[in-house]
Amino acid sequence: MKKIAFIALFAGLTTLSADGASLYKKCASCHGANAEKSALGKSQIIAGWDKSKLVNAMNGYKNGTYGGAMKMIMKGQVAPLSAADVDALATYISSK
Ligand code: HEC
Repeated sequence: MKKIAFIALFAGLTTLSADGASLYKKCASCHGANAEKSALGKSQIIAGWDKSKLVNAMNGYKNGTYGGAMKMIMKGQVAPLSAADVDALATYISSK
């Protein structure tokens, strides 16, 4: 029984860590608090992009199939993100 409770707690924590708003905090310095800026004057403005387009871009930066001249910057940003993190971020940014 104790083990089950622990797993349930852990699942709860994992859900918390995939909170788009908190994950986005580390993106805001470049993309703007509401994703309204062109990051470093180079990126497209990502606020309001379709969720699938955002997921595609983030996964593409991860595996090297997407991006422009500054894609190495984004590779470092998305490398530590799990699939759940990418999903939560895409949901959050597409709502902007
Ligand atoms: C150090 C500044 C910086 C940070 C922090 C940063 N980005 Fe970026 N981002 C950029 C730059 C520069 C580009 C354009 C890269 C290129 O040439 O493809 C970009 C591009 C993107 C794009 C695609 C837009 C396009 O122009 O095609 C998405 C989506 C994106 N970033 C999401 C994020 C998310 C989500 C985070 C946080 C996990 C994040 N970024 C953090 C600088 C940053």
